Amino acid sequence: LIEAVGAREILDSRGNPTVEVEVLLDDGVVQRAAVPSGASTGAFEAYELRDGDKSRYGGKGVLKAVNAVLDELGPAIEGVEASEQRIVDEILNETDGTPNKERVGANAILGVSLAVAKAAADSADLPLFRYLGGPNAHVMPVPLFNVINGGEHADNGIDMQEFFLAPIGAETYAESLRWGVETYHVLKSELKAAGYATGLGDEGGFAPDLPSNREGLDFLIRAIEKAGFTPGTDIALGLDVAATEFFNDGVYRLDNKDWNAAELTEYYVGLVNDYPIVTIEDALAEDDWDNWKHLTEALGSRVQLVGDDLFVTNPARLQDGITRGVANSLLVKVNQIGTLTETFDAVSLAQRSGYTAMLSHRSGETEDTTIADLAVATNCGQIKTGAPARSERVAKYNQLLRIEEELGDAAVFAGRSAFPRFKG
Ligand code: PGA
Ligand code: ZN
Repeated sequence: LIEAVGAREILDSRGNPTVEVEVLLDDGVVQRAAVPSGASTGAFEAYELRDGDKSRYGGKGVLKAVNAVLDELGPAIEGVEASEQRIVDEILNETDGTPNKERVGANAILGVSLAVAKAAADSADLPLFRYLGGPNAHVMPVPLFNVINGGEHADNGIDMQEFFLAPIGAETYAESLRWGVETYHVLKSELKAAGYATGLGDEGGFAPDLPSNREGLDFLIRAIEKAGFTPGTDIALGLDVAATEFFNDGVYRLDNKDWNAAELTEYYVGLVNDYPIVTIEDALAEDDWDNWKHLTEALGSRVQLVGDDLFVTNPARLQDGITRGVANSLLVKVNQIGTLTETFDAVSLAQRSGYTAMLSHRSGETEDTTIADLAVATNCGQIKTGAPARSERVAKYNQLLRIEEELGDAAVFAGRSAFPRFKG
């Protein structure tokens, strides 16, 4: 039984305050969870409550959310069985009482939801992935390493937010991690040799001032080859365009040009023709549903089209997309929806509907590694949690090493099969 719930304000990887929650059970178990925070946040995400008191952390303090945990959410679940996650999450949502968690904040609710799950796992003496996923949790995800950062995550001129290396040809997760790391280091030397800065963006990728998005893809191909791998077969590419960020009044502003959605879709078709790209996220804006449908018709059979700001891990928005035939993959961010239960609902809706799912970090992260366990618990086969640099990113990749070791012979690396539309 849940005996007590504590909370505090800690810092995320960008030096902004965030919520940490601790849950104590009556058997003496104590577990904590910390909440991440986005920069290119979708308009339809659950509400992140910040104090707005300019005299502290420029208004970004989270003491209101912390106090909501201490005064309301904690007392509401005291005495409840920690393994009753659905009931706990329902109580949390009812205590908030708003559709978008805007009264106490999704950051308050998520901290409690995750800490309860971790405490229940510990109490059952199970690793988190096993507790959440049951005996069938065994698929090790392909790590999507975001090795070039642009958009809102870096102060350079690149419009697209994330350029991924996806080591799909490896035999194991540990091997895919090594391939990604080796290529990351070669990429650094290549950028340096070409006279570009090699400082890091928010997600640990390099943030060079490249003249175009295609130039970013060219650098990835060269790095893969120089590291001794075959582009496409060993290591494929991916993009998170985060197009909402450069969309205004029906116009997309990319590479210093104005594009309408049809032109941009043609541009993507060209990229998929020219590069071994297996996944493109938020290729169009979060509200551009009709054009998303055209994009899906044009490219959906060849490449994974991921909805991040589009779906915001929200089962209702995802259902809408499924009904309309929009995208074919769900990005999964626990703080976009705010409880573990609703996260699982979104993932299982995707999986039942023939959509893939990719577990994801936020650009503002902490040392909390819950998403690594969630990726294995859901057998979703894909995770993006930054470049293999910066400890808040590496912490998740390291946790996956531990999980693969724990699974032993039962572990299966998703590899190419994670991308059913792999174009070869
Ligand atoms: P965010 O970026 O955490 O800043 O929203 C990640 C993403 O867009 O996938
Ligand atoms: Zn995204």
